[in-house]
Amino acid sequence: MSAKAKAAATPEVGAIPENFKATAHIDAAAYDKMYAASVSDPEAFWGEHGKRLDWIKPYTKVKDTSFEPGNISIKWFEDGTLNVAANCIDRHLKKRGNQTAIIFEPDDIHEPAQYITYRQLHNQVSKLANVLEQLGIRKGDRVVIYLPMIPEAAYAMLACARIGAVHSIVFAGFSPDALAARVNGCDAKLVITADYAPRGGRKTPLKSNTDAALLHCIHDPKVLMVRRTREQTTWVDGRDFDYGEMMLEASDVQHPIEMNAEDPLFILYTSGSTGHPKGVVHSTGGYLVYAAMTHQYTFDYHDGDVFWCTADVGWVTGHSYIVYGPLANGATTVMFEGVPTYPDPGRFWEVCEKHKVNQFYTAPTAIRALMGQGDEWVEKHDLSSLKLLGSVGEPINPEAWNWYNEKVGKGKCPIVDTWWQTETGGHLITPLPGAMSTKPGSATKPFFGVQPVILDPQSGLEIDSVEAEGVLCLKDSWPGQMRGVWDDHGRFEQAYFSDYKGYYFSGDGCRRDADGYYWITGRVDDVINVSGHRMGTAEVESALVAHAKVAEAAVVGYPHPVKGQGIYCYVTLMNDVEPTQELYQELRQWVRHEIGPIASPDLIQWAPGLPKTRSGKIMRRILRKIAENDYGSLGDTSTLADPSVVEDLIENRMNKG
Ligand code: WTA
Repeated sequence: MSAKAKAAATPEVGAIPENFKATAHIDAAAYDKMYAASVSDPEAFWGEHGKRLDWIKPYTKVKDTSFEPGNISIKWFEDGTLNVAANCIDRHLKKRGNQTAIIFEPDDIHEPAQYITYRQLHNQVSKLANVLEQLGIRKGDRVVIYLPMIPEAAYAMLACARIGAVHSIVFAGFSPDALAARVNGCDAKLVITADYAPRGGRKTPLKSNTDAALLHCIHDPKVLMVRRTREQTTWVDGRDFDYGEMMLEASDVQHPIEMNAEDPLFILYTSGSTGHPKGVVHSTGGYLVYAAMTHQYTFDYHDGDVFWCTADVGWVTGHSYIVYGPLANGATTVMFEGVPTYPDPGRFWEVCEKHKVNQFYTAPTAIRALMGQGDEWVEKHDLSSLKLLGSVGEPINPEAWNWYNEKVGKGKCPIVDTWWQTETGGHLITPLPGAMSTKPGSATKPFFGVQPVILDPQSGLEIDSVEAEGVLCLKDSWPGQMRGVWDDHGRFEQAYFSDYKGYYFSGDGCRRDADGYYWITGRVDDVINVSGHRMGTAEVESALVAHAKVAEAAVVGYPHPVKGQGIYCYVTLMNDVEPTQELYQELRQWVRHEIGPIASPDLIQWAPGLPKTRSGKIMRRILRKIAENDYGSLGDTSTLADPSVVEDLIENRMNKG
């Protein structure tokens, strides 16, 4: 074949595949037209697209939002009423009662998969809603969900939505202390948990973690326990209730209650740059419209497709793209209990083959981990059902993008690199696969209604030129935007609207190229992204200083080949304490125990002193540079109280490249 003919036969990397051009919901012309309409007249645009849901009382007001300091207020569809569970289940029954809603793939390959139809989902959720009511849960009450990735987690979310209770999911990898903080934070009346959470061949003792957490809880929540492994657990009569037993007795007749569009649907705690995690509050109407619409268009979901998002329901990605978005669209969604490498590094691809997955959505950290295991694990499996691949959680490096594209997608599946946050409810910057070509590492263009701007971090002014680099803000609201921080409106304004007045500040840095494509460069605040898990360095610091032998600690991120970022801790010990290898291990264990395994320090450097300004503020910029092994460009150190501290830190740095 001549070079020219070959070039014609091999499509350019990132080009829109021909089959997508023909069948995609949105093509390039439609994108341009709809995007223009969405920003020139958001009321009309969202007024129309809000109709994708079934409303009990249709809205007459669409948008009432303000980013003005002192008057931050976000309301969408505010006089409409609906029920989320009815939109995710009941309205599909006539057409899709016997269609699979959830495919459950257990951790253990010997345990059969479950195929739960919409009718069965309706039955389970209705019963559970009745169980919740029997346990005294009413509209507006908070329910904490601390479960493995099992169908009961989805039932619990939807049962709460059905009766108007507000759920707050706590990732099953979190420690008892982290669980207690979240139960107390939202004053939960009930914790739904399981005996154990199987994952990667191991088991987390969720019930005993819950018992430990409840020792620190101010109010006395009840506990509803699912028997996942059926092993023995402790039992507190009068406080603990058996899920299986109560479900057997429960009636499956239950009428979803009428909720206002602005009533809270859920709270999800997420890390910020300071203090304790924030309880991000999402709404009923706007959130669901946005989750459903982005699910359909970003993944180009069509009726009958099998969609798999590998996230955990403990994170926002699981909320929006395992449960709410897909089910609102009447999709078939996969819930996977395990990990990518168990029992072997072919597990993801085996599951894709087994369930004929059409859209596959995962995180760069998983791609990098699997890439390192060799191509044979992918090549062993028939991946011909795949039509589209997605990425989320952190910037994807071009090497991982190319491997994903060539080895998994065989050069035929568009890759949607979706940029968004717990706070945004759904994708904000993302390719729409039939509408735009992609570039490895770029999240490309804004979704409908989303108006990203790049600000100069010093002046706070918008950079108008097409090519720009600075901090990423949003100029106007979108329906999926968080509505507030639970119980702390002041913190909402402080965290997102105070650094750059009149804008929502994302916390991310960003570059816009000559084609108007956006490239996220990572967090500009003290939030780090470890294996796609978001963590505040302040949280790890406060765990470290809670240890009796630690006097002071400063934590920063550093580039890690698989995790994206690793956790680098500078620790100053109490006066008479000797740094030893045992203490090193003890501190790692300590942090795992205080927060959970995801917060486990990668590197700990014993620091006799930390670089501080004369006013006592730790100069993190310097610590970041040393951790990145980039100490040649420390910048201005003249304001340091004791410059010799820095020399010692460089000398004894842990990341010697
Ligand atoms: C990062 C996860 C680059 C970003 C949905 C953001 C990304 C934080 C991408 C939110 C992406 C997420 N490219 N960075 N495609 N997606 N991020 O709240 O720093 O767990 O601010 O939400 O992850 O993390 P969160």
